Amino acid sequence: MAEPSSVLVIGSGGREHALVLALARDPQVRAVHAAPGNPGTAEAATNHPVDALDGDAVAALATRLGVDLVVIGPEAALVADDADAVRAAGVACFGPSAAAARLEGSKAFAKEVMAAAGVPTARAHVCATADEVAAALDAFGPPYVVKDDGLAAGKGVVVTSDRDEALAHAAGCGRVVVEEYLDGPEVSLFAVTDGRTVRALQPAQDFKRVGDGDTGPNTGGMGAYTPLPWAPPDLVAEVTRTVLQPTVDELSRRGTPFAGLLYAGLALTRHGVRVIEFNARFGDPETQPLLALLRTPLARLLHAAATGTLDAEPELVWDAGSAVAVVVAAAGYPGTPRTGDPVGGLDVAVEGASVVQAGTAADARGRVVSSGGRVLAVVGTGADLARARERAYARLATVELEGSFHRTDIAAAAAEKQV
Ligand code: AMP
Ligand code: GLY
Repeated sequence: MAEPSSVLVIGSGGREHALVLALARDPQVRAVHAAPGNPGTAEAATNHPVDALDGDAVAALATRLGVDLVVIGPEAALVADDADAVRAAGVACFGPSAAAARLEGSKAFAKEVMAAAGVPTARAHVCATADEVAAALDAFGPPYVVKDDGLAAGKGVVVTSDRDEALAHAAGCGRVVVEEYLDGPEVSLFAVTDGRTVRALQPAQDFKRVGDGDTGPNTGGMGAYTPLPWAPPDLVAEVTRTVLQPTVDELSRRGTPFAGLLYAGLALTRHGVRVIEFNARFGDPETQPLLALLRTPLARLLHAAATGTLDAEPELVWDAGSAVAVVVAAAGYPGTPRTGDPVGGLDVAVEGASVVQAGTAADARGRVVSSGGRVLAVVGTGADLARARERAYARLATVELEGSFHRTDIAAAAAEKQV
């Protein structure tokens, strides 16, 4: 069936809420389900309780609901085996198999695939002992980059010029990847793929450090914007040719095709584009502004990727303007966040702006309360980045959450053409 009318989205968080909103806008879609979802998804979808890490439970829910398509959001669910279980139950699934999701689940595996496919990335050593780490750090010199090999929710990477700090991070990790420092602006490029055909989205940029001016520790992302007025015009074509297509082809050649969302985190260095990392799902918070501008009906697109018919789909269509997302984080994030505080101002209407919920829950009285570090994102759209920023921050000013904080400089340099 080319036009799915009911979709189940697995996972709860800002990207899943953004997916639910975009799927609900697809004119062919009559029902959207979310599991477990949050109070935000409940407004556009029916929420169902599920353990997202239990593939059999997810497949059983999909079968019981009789949906045409399942979209798996969280990386941990993909690395478990949700997508395999759903496909085995005969339901179309957007999301790679556990074998292909290792591209995100293991940084060492990703390096190996890139080497085999000739994809440009930082030189790296995979290290199992403190002596190996010390030798790798000294081989590359500062600034040092040390990455936990496994999934770490965006917090497994330390970039520092302090050798002791680099050693200490490695000591707390187990197997690590030590790599060459990549200097240059970062770009996130997402692609929808069915394992053969690749359709890249427009580029976005996220802000990983917790503080204004890119200070403080790394987070899952404090804000994002799209498009990038400063990016080279041939960037998407070049990255598709040198990164996305070769990676998809290599996984296909190995008999573990990647069908889902391939996310390339890139550095534009003086020596050319280099891959920083791959993710196997819609990235957060870039998904929020990207889907705010995507006009192509999303359910149809993801269904085509899930069923191997992406080559028959038309080119993606975008709104001409810009979109900016700013994350509102709970006190303590990215350490242990304060939770359980009421979130106010969710119903306020600001033109060209919306709220995407992530770390929220309903309390016993049905009020929306904070339940995680990144509580929500405000998304503003407009003719250009300056206007989109203004609207995002205007919407943010009406959100009430005690102790919360946000970055004030999301997309500021790009809006002022200072990147
Ligand atoms: P990752 O989880 O691999 O995306 O890393 C998180 C962040 O750490 C990236 O977005 C970069 O800002 C930074 N980072 C990772 N690898 C490198 C590298 N080789 N050189 C410079 N910065 C890096
Ligand atoms: N934007 C970073 C991530 O989704 O991992």
